[in-house]
Amino acid sequence: MTNHILVGALVSGLVLLAAGPASAAPRAYALPEETTQLKLAKGHEGEAGLAAAQGNCLTCHSSDYIAMQPPGKGKAFWESEVTKMIKVYGAPITEPDAKAIAAYLAETY
Ligand code: HEC
Repeated sequence: MTNHILVGALVSGLVLLAAGPASAAPRAYALPEETTQLKLAKGHEGEAGLAAAQGNCLTCHSSDYIAMQPPGKGKAFWESEVTKMIKVYGAPITEPDAKAIAAYLAETY
């Protein structure tokens, strides 16, 4: 799947960066256009969560991963999903953003 190719490209980019000053020239990656979008938020609070999700949840994979989950899973499910992205996959997301994102996802998906 293209998602895996994308993640692979990101990972090899990080490996190149970690290789150090020998290859110091910055690299530019042309990423493909997003083909899916996060759903619109339902309320005002959800809008903050949507913005946080747009900034934090589309860097490693598309919003397909979110849309693919069965509907109506609820807040506890989405909170643990967001925590998993942070703890297992290393997503750099602040505590307030994580809360807003989980609330938005629970309300919208
Ligand atoms: C640091 C990279 C990264 C970020 C940022 C990230 N994810 Fe993920 N996400 C992953 C990886 C890796 C997988 C597993 C991919 C696989 O199994 O093919 C995944 C899978 C998922 C899945 C599928 C179900 C599962 O648990 O495997 C969902 C839903 C998901 N992510 C939601 C989110 C949400 C919501 C955010 C924002 C809070 C987010 N992701 C941010 C890396 C990331």
